[in-house]
Amino acid sequence: MTESTVKRTLFRHPLAAVGGALFLAGGALFLVLLMLDFSAGYDNPYGALVTFIGAPFIVTVGFALFLLSIYVQVRAARKEGKKVRFNLSIDPTDPAYMRNLWLFLGLSAGLILLVAYSGSRAYEATDSNAFCGTTCHQVMEPQYVTYQHSAHARVHCVECHIGPGASFYVRSKVDGIRQLFATALNTYSRPIETPVHNLRPAQETCEGCHWPQQFYGDKLVTRTYYRTEEENPAWTISLMLKIGGGNPRTGRQEGIHWHMLTENRVEYIAMDEKRQTIGWIRSVDINGDTTIYRNTEVDSVDESSVEHEIRRFDCMDCHNRPSHSFQPPATALNLALSTRKISPELPYIRQVGLDLLNEEYEEKAGALQAIATGLHQYYDDDYPEIARDKQELIAQAVAELQSIYGQNFFPEMATDYRVRENNLSHFVNDGCFRCHSETMQDGEGISVPHDCRTCHEIIAQGPSENLSELDQQLIGLDFVHPEDIDEEWKESKCTECHTPDSGY
Ligand code: HEC
Ligand code: HEC
Ligand code: HEC
Ligand code: HEC
Ligand code: HEC
Ligand code: HEC
Repeated sequence: MTESTVKRTLFRHPLAAVGGALFLAGGALFLVLLMLDFSAGYDNPYGALVTFIGAPFIVTVGFALFLLSIYVQVRAARKEGKKVRFNLSIDPTDPAYMRNLWLFLGLSAGLILLVAYSGSRAYEATDSNAFCGTTCHQVMEPQYVTYQHSAHARVHCVECHIGPGASFYVRSKVDGIRQLFATALNTYSRPIETPVHNLRPAQETCEGCHWPQQFYGDKLVTRTYYRTEEENPAWTISLMLKIGGGNPRTGRQEGIHWHMLTENRVEYIAMDEKRQTIGWIRSVDINGDTTIYRNTEVDSVDESSVEHEIRRFDCMDCHNRPSHSFQPPATALNLALSTRKISPELPYIRQVGLDLLNEEYEEKAGALQAIATGLHQYYDDDYPEIARDKQELIAQAVAELQSIYGQNFFPEMATDYRVRENNLSHFVNDGCFRCHSETMQDGEGISVPHDCRTCHEIIAQGPSENLSELDQQLIGLDFVHPEDIDEEWKESKCTECHTPDSGY
């Protein structure tokens, strides 16, 4: 057998035929999809996945099969004692050989280009918000929807969750493959577990945009609350929050952001997975003075034991919901009533709405339906003349309640405010009061400051929607609880009465 016949049969082997066919088919698919991509762009991440991972994968498999077939054939030929010319010496005298060589080199170069280009496009696509937020629709829905309504809706998921650097990229993609399987096999947990343990420390994420030396000063927060009575009476509180920070101009360090200043160091040990019960705190100030506080309501914690993780307190310990905030129904309703998306003219709307939102539902479609029928039913039965004369207000209230539900409750993922504690306050969850409490004491029985004026001043408060009707006092007022509960609010934590059952 001559050398040229051996070469020709190289292409006739079944493996080579399959490989060649895959190579051509994958290449053609890629070109067609690429043209679609250039003309339309992808709004959905699946398209990008098929074009830049699927098609190149087929091409590469084809090419690999082809190489394999050559190897198999050459080995078989050598075994039979045939002389096979298969080296890279260039033999310009043999045109057939040269043609094949050029073809081979050309295809290899094409393949390398294709893989490189696709790799970079796939990197881009898998880092996009749409990819993170929608590829596994239902799984990420709660986080994606709340994200779109947050202050960070223009910050990419990856800037907080992955951060720069190749090693984090690879780690996250490896983790992504595991998550893909969990999604396909339906073995992921509902709700998704939180806190996120592999989130990078705040220094590498948040502080890339908000640096600790940044000074935030005071912030005025005014909220109107509506009460559980027939006329839904209003009550307004205006708080001046002492956010503070390190002021590089004056050199002063003050306020709530005291903890985040790098010279100060607060560390703690949490007794539970969700870091809601704190057993031990170590606070080191600028001068290096160390104070240890222990929770008198928790069995003594041995901080040297390996059982306990000592966590450095950072941004995410207060701002744990910077972009996925699930509003409790009371909070959302107060806002809707104060902006008249729901009319306070509807009797008991605050309570009926709250009960409808706070009900446990199996799935979203059913919930939206139940909210609509529930509200109509209530007015038909208890206030027939309102049901007749204020149809429009009722329809508007139904639409707004459904929209609140849609943005904050995800029954399929068992995710809502009940499983997503917010640590930025002390009203809805213990938050600041996890540490700023009578029960958190140092060796001398002095507790972490918890006077109402440590963190904010009440500038105005009272039964009105209109701030100008209320007395305003910049140096601060003593808190008056909207409902007469004596001094009860001084003795117990707010969360003892404002519980998930009451919708807060
Ligand atoms: C501003 C920073 C930031 C951005 C942007 C962001 N996240 Fe998060 N994400 C967080 C923080 C902080 C947590 C909670 C960490 C904790 O409690 O341990 C979190 C938690 C999560 C969780 C865990 C479940 C939960 O509710 O705690 C998922 C899933 C998630 N994010 C997905 C996304 C997706 C998808 C996007 C983009 C659509 C995104 N995130 C954008 C900061 C961010
Ligand atoms: C890529 C830049 C970027 C990163 C990373 C980032 N933020 Fe922001 N953040 C912003 C911008 C921009 C705004 C202002 C948005 C606005 O005012 O509409 C903002 C606003 C905020 C606000 C005030 C708005 C509000 O929700 O009340 C807080 C608090 C905040 N960020 C905390 C965080 C925390 C905590 C992290 C880390 C988990 C973080 N940010 C990561 C850019 C970033
Ligand atoms: C001890 C808890 C705590 C820690 C730790 C903390 N913050 Fe805050 N931060 C707050 C509170 C409380 C507010 C005011 C909340 C509000 O806007 O209603 C606030 C407000 C902010 C704001 C908005 C300022 C404005 O004018 O609206 C930004 C931005 C912010 N924090 C970023 C950070 C970053 C970044 C870190 C970490 C370096 C951090 N915070 C650490 C409690 C904290
Ligand atoms: C992990 C425990 C912990 C949590 C949670 C926590 N703090 Fe603190 N905080 C401390 C400690 C410890 C100090 C320092 C007390 C000391 O030694 O004087 C402190 C100090 C402060 C100070 C300065 C007090 C002063 O002496 O002027 C303010 C203001 C403050 N915290 C606000 C907040 C707010 C607001 C929150 C919730 C958003 C919060 N803290 C959550 C532990 C905590
Ligand atoms: C350790 C700091 C700290 C202490 C001590 C503290 N607060 Fe607050 N308070 C906060 C923060 C932070 C918020 C959240 C502000 C926000 O939602 O923007 C808040 C919110 C509130 C609100 C508004 C609730 C809401 O979410 O609408 C009221 C009312 C209030 N505090 C009253 C009090 C009273 C009364 C005391 C004393 C028993 C007290 N606070 C002690 C930090 C503190
Ligand atoms: C002994 C139980 C109890 C304690 C403790 C308590 N509250 Fe209340 N709170 C109530 C009741 C009852 C209402 C009336 C609820 C209604 O009208 O639907 C209420 C209503 C409110 C409202 C207005 C209505 C709303 O929920 O939107 C605010 C604001 C409020 N409380 C703040 C606080 C704060 C801040 C603390 C902690 C410092 C606190 N409460 C502690 C029982 C309590």
